[in-house]
Amino acid sequence: MNLPDPGALYSDHLGVLARRADEALARGGFDHLVVPSGRLHYQLFDDRDYPYAVNPQFKTWLPLTRLPDSWLVYTPGRRPQLVYHQPHDYWHAVPAAPSGWWVEHFDIHVIRTPEEALALLPKDPARCAILGEPQSALGSFVPNNPQPVIDYLEYQRAFKTPYEIALMRQAQVHAVRGHRAAEAAFRAGASEFGIHMAYCSAVGQDANELPYGNIIALDEHAAVLHYTDLGHTTPQPARSFLIDAGASAHGYASDITRTYAAAGHDEFQALIDAVDAAQRKMCAAVRGGFDYKQLHVDAHLALMGILKDFGVITVSPEAALASGVSAAFFPHGIGHLIGAQVHDVAGFAASDRGGRIERPAGHPYLRMTRVLEPGMVVTIEPGVYFIDMLLDEVKQAGNAASVDWDRVDFFRPYGGIRIEDEVLCTDGEADNLTRPVFAA
Ligand code: GLY
Ligand code: MN
Ligand code: MN
Repeated sequence: MNLPDPGALYSDHLGVLARRADEALARGGFDHLVVPSGRLHYQLFDDRDYPYAVNPQFKTWLPLTRLPDSWLVYTPGRRPQLVYHQPHDYWHAVPAAPSGWWVEHFDIHVIRTPEEALALLPKDPARCAILGEPQSALGSFVPNNPQPVIDYLEYQRAFKTPYEIALMRQAQVHAVRGHRAAEAAFRAGASEFGIHMAYCSAVGQDANELPYGNIIALDEHAAVLHYTDLGHTTPQPARSFLIDAGASAHGYASDITRTYAAAGHDEFQALIDAVDAAQRKMCAAVRGGFDYKQLHVDAHLALMGILKDFGVITVSPEAALASGVSAAFFPHGIGHLIGAQVHDVAGFAASDRGGRIERPAGHPYLRMTRVLEPGMVVTIEPGVYFIDMLLDEVKQAGNAASVDWDRVDFFRPYGGIRIEDEVLCTDGEADNLTRPVFAA
């Protein structure tokens, strides 16, 4: 696949971030934006550190995901400054000298100890919007996370720059390589753990770098929405395989789910095919001005139409939605914003000055309620599952007659189905970032 070169798009990206920062600082009444990259966190009563996770506010400016104790300083009208922590340390690999497409755009100050940053930060901390976690405090530079600044930056972050979209396309390519290896491992009889290892090896990323823990589920495990236990033995027979796994590209995420049937399980394969076809239509519905909440409700109706066709429910999709039966089979949201974080921020933001758009009643897990606008990237991830806990609630609520329980018994051993792509909202047709990579 021909991918755009992020380096060629970076300067414009920085221009967008600078304009956003100018406005955010004006709204908050500050002179400087100060963003620590974050620090290592240590386990309680232990000297082991947790995997380092860079401050997302930092990695939107810089493709640097492993640079703790560093600082970005932006002052309107000036070149951004980077305080780059490169310790003298013979215990650990230290960050390499600054290099890459970003270097020429910053004034870079290499420091050897975290405290050296103090002399390089702005004179008056009170004039700084300092965006970070409490542990990043250094002297009187204590993160204050001013709400007007955060509200503005997070709301705007939903609109991806061409640079960010280029990185997200890269993240698709990495993940699809893993998905192909994972399917082959499943077909060869590997355990969940074995499939996970095949995935990581093909992507070239492990848990420290992947944007979230791989969900690799055989058979009934696919009914656990975030199943991350990774069994070491392959169930006999292995009937089905659900994989929800992404990859990172310079800190930007992909988040992709596919479901497979083992050979000979034709009826479950037909159900997968039906969900897959419906998912493509949902992806095509992503367009500017369309309310994502409506997309979620429409997905309920489409999925219940499929379950009706397959004889799993006995009532109309509309009736299943109204009674809550549909939420037992599709108990999560249709998706979320994605970017520097797999569940990107501000999915509920009413405006860039704050406020919240509530979820529709009865849909407590929807992660995005905004109206779609060009530049947003969202996941579209419908699913149907056979989850005993939720099906028991259907019975307790007096809706047992809405379900054909023999059909539930037939499909329960397969766990469930989810299909998930990333879709870029444009001025025109939806741009599915995931499908063309699988097709290439
Ligand atoms: N992988 C988590 C999600 O799909 O949101
Ligand atoms: Mn996912
Ligand atoms: Mn997702």
